[in-house]
Amino acid sequence: MSSFVLERLDSSHDRAGFESGLESVDRYLKETARGHMEKGISVTRVLVESDAKPPKAILGYFTLSNISIEAREWPSAPKGLPRQAVSAVLLGRLAVARTDQGKGIASILVATARQLARETIERSGGLGLVVDAANEEIVGFYTRYGFIRVAPQGLRMFLPARSLKGGAEIPME
Ligand SMILES: CC(C)(COP(=O)(O)OP(=O)(O)OC[C@H]1O[C@@H](n2cnc3c(N)ncnc32)[C@H](O)[C@@H]1OP(=O)(O)O)[C@@H](O)C(=O)NCCC(=O)NCCS
Repeated sequence: MSSFVLERLDSSHDRAGFESGLESVDRYLKETARGHMEKGISVTRVLVESDAKPPKAILGYFTLSNISIEAREWPSAPKGLPRQAVSAVLLGRLAVARTDQGKGIASILVATARQLARETIERSGGLGLVVDAANEEIVGFYTRYGFIRVAPQGLRMFLPARSLKGGAEIPME
């Protein structure tokens, strides 16, 4: 099996060739992710084979940013939160190339996102990792990793800081 490395998205990566099957996440990678990195809005990291040459094929990617949340009513949020919004890490996008799905790549990406979120929270605080599932099927996917819906009908899910255990399995830039 090839070895992988996680890199910050840059011009060496083949964004145009990425296709996961979910148009919104494919379009974000192609059209928006680099601009958001340049502006400081979010950071996108891509998984590539460690010996890949530009344009490097993207096997999967995820995007993290920092957000403010009002989580006093959320199940599994700490008790006694202040009335004002508090910080959390948002897993804004996550996708795996259609040709590489079913090989455990999403599990690697989620584990790495959890580690990065834990490091951010250890340095500067935060309640945990938030994700907005794309649809009901994907709610099931995130439930596997311990995320809990914050409201019964909604697609927003939350993994509290105390549950952000487990390290990344791959080298990171
Ligand atoms: C959902 C997605 C990220 C899964 O990627 P993947 O690399 O195929 O997933 P993995 O192979 O790492 O599977 C991890 C586990 O999740 C399960 N799983 C995979 N897709 C799932 C889904 N859609 N719903 C529920 N569980 C799912 C797998 O069965 C596997 O379980 P196992 O460990 O018991 O075998 C991928 O199908 C994808 O990119 N889809 C399109 C984009 C998308 O929907 N992104 C989420 C946006 S919020």
